[in-house]
Amino acid sequence: MIEFDKEAFYEAAHHALPIDTEGFLSYVSSFENLILWGAGYLGQAVAEKLQDLDVEINTFWDLRATKLGEVNGLATEEPFSKEYDRENTLVIFCIASSFIRGSLMQDLKNQGYANMLMGQYVYEGLICPLDKYDSNVCKKSNACDSYTCLKNDNLFAKSLDIKPEFTEHEPMIFRNLTIVINQKCTLKCKFCYSYTNHYVDDKRLNFSLERILHDIDVFFDAVDGVKLIPLIGGEVFMHPDLNKIVKHILTKENFGLLNVTTNGICKMTEEDLDGFQNDRLQMVFSNYTDSVSEKQKELYYKNIEFAKSLGIQVIVPNNTPQWAMPTTLYDQEDDLDALKHKFKVCRGPFDCKYLKNGHFYPCSIVDPVHSLGIADYSHDYVALDTASSNLDLRRKIYDVEHRDHYKTCGHCSGPGGLTGVVSKAGEQGYQDFITKPELPKTETKISFMAKPERLLESN
Ligand SMILES: C[S@@+](CC[C@H](N)C(=O)[O-])C[C@H]1O[C@@H](n2cnc3c(N)ncnc32)[C@H](O)[C@@H]1O
Ligand code: SF4
Ligand code: SF4
Repeated sequence: MIEFDKEAFYEAAHHALPIDTEGFLSYVSSFENLILWGAGYLGQAVAEKLQDLDVEINTFWDLRATKLGEVNGLATEEPFSKEYDRENTLVIFCIASSFIRGSLMQDLKNQGYANMLMGQYVYEGLICPLDKYDSNVCKKSNACDSYTCLKNDNLFAKSLDIKPEFTEHEPMIFRNLTIVINQKCTLKCKFCYSYTNHYVDDKRLNFSLERILHDIDVFFDAVDGVKLIPLIGGEVFMHPDLNKIVKHILTKENFGLLNVTTNGICKMTEEDLDGFQNDRLQMVFSNYTDSVSEKQKELYYKNIEFAKSLGIQVIVPNNTPQWAMPTTLYDQEDDLDALKHKFKVCRGPFDCKYLKNGHFYPCSIVDPVHSLGIADYSHDYVALDTASSNLDLRRKIYDVEHRDHYKTCGHCSGPGGLTGVVSKAGEQGYQDFITKPELPKTETKISFMAKPERLLESN
C-alpha cells in the first residue's frame, strides 16, 4: 500500500477544488483487492468511473447479492461472505443513506477492514461536475444524496445571501428542515418513524393551510437557509391544500431542494401536481413494494408514471430491504447525567429538524413525544408564536439548538431516535411504542452507543 492523504482528497472534493487524481489512482491500485460496498446507484456510478480509469474491481458487496446477480459486469457478494486479506483489501463504501451507513461502517471496522474510502466523497471529487451550486444537477443524479453530500453543503452555503442584520451568531444554515403537514396516512407502516399509526381520533388530522403558510414564512425569514426540505406527513397527498403549500414553499429563495415525499399509494390528480415542474422540486416515491399488496403496487407504479408524464422530476429509491426501527417513546426515568450522556452521543451533523403545527422541533423525537401528548417539555422546542420578531425567533432557535440535553432524551433509546435494530421497509402492522412494558428497568433499555455518523469524522 502506498501513502495517500485521504483527508486532503476529501477536503478538495467537498469544496470543488482540484483533485489529486494521480495520487488516488496509485493508492487504489496498490491493493490486491478492491471491493465496492453497495451496488446501488452510487456504487454503480463509482464503478463506472473506476472502470473508465482502468482500475480493476474485484466485486460488489450488497445484501441483495442473490437477487442482483451481476452489476456493471461485476459479480456481487453478500458482505463478509468470503474471506479477503484485510491488509491487502480496500473497500470503497458506496452507501449514502444516513440511516444505515453508520452501523454498516461500524461492521466494516469490527470485521477488521481498516482500508476504506468513502464512495460518496470519491463521487464528489471525481464524478460530480459542479463548481457552483445547482440543485438541478444534484436532483438529476440518482447517485447523489443531496442531504449527506458535503460538497452540496459547501456550494449551497456559498450561494446564500447571509442576512447582515443577524450577525451575533454564525450563519444559521440547516442541512435539513422537514416540514410536516399532516398526521394521517393511507398506509400503516409498523415501524414508521413518524409514528403515524399512533395518531388517532382528533390527532389524525391535516394541519390548517393558514398555520402551515405562516410557519413557513416566519421560519424562512428568521434563518439564513435550508439545504433540503423534505415535505412529509403522514401522507402529504391526503392534504387538500398540498398544491398551495408546495407553491408557497417555492416562493422562498433561501432553500436548495424540496423533496415532496410520498408513499405513492394514494390518489394523485393533475391539480394536486400543478406547479411541481420546478427546478428545485423532486418527488420521492418511497419504495415499499416488498411490503404492500399487488393492487397497491399497481397504484404506486401508475402514480410514478403519471407524475413523470407531467414532466416532474421523480426519484424512486431502491426497494431497500432495511429500515431502522424507531425508539420507544415512554419515559425511561433517566437522571440528568444520563440525559446529558444520551444527548452528547446523539447529536450530530445529520440530525433532522422539524417544522410542524406552529413548532420548531430540534430532533425527530421531540416531535412525537410532544405531538402525541406523551409529555410537554417546553424547553425542548420553539413555539413559533412566542417569538416577537424574526431576530427573536432566530435566537430562540439558536438556544434550543445549543442545549446540553433535552428532557425528551429520557424517552429515547437510541441515537437519532433509532434503535440499532433493522426491519423491513414499509412492513405493515401495528407496534405499540408508547406503553411501557412491565419489565425491570435495566432489561427494557437498549444501550445508547455513539451515533454511527460520528465515524464519518474519523474516516
Ligand atoms: C415518515 S415518511 C412520510 C412520507 C410518506 N408517507 C412516505 O412514507 O414516504 C418520510 C420518510 O421516512 C422514511 N421512513 C419512515 N420510517 C422509517 C424508518 N423506520 N427507517 C427509515 N426510514 C423511514 C420513509 O420511507 C419516507 O421516505
Ligand atoms: S412511513 Fe408508512 S405509515 Fe409512515 S407516513 Fe409513510 S407511508 Fe405512512
Ligand atoms: S431525544 Fe433522542 S434523538 Fe433527540 S436529541 Fe435526545 S437522544 Fe437524540
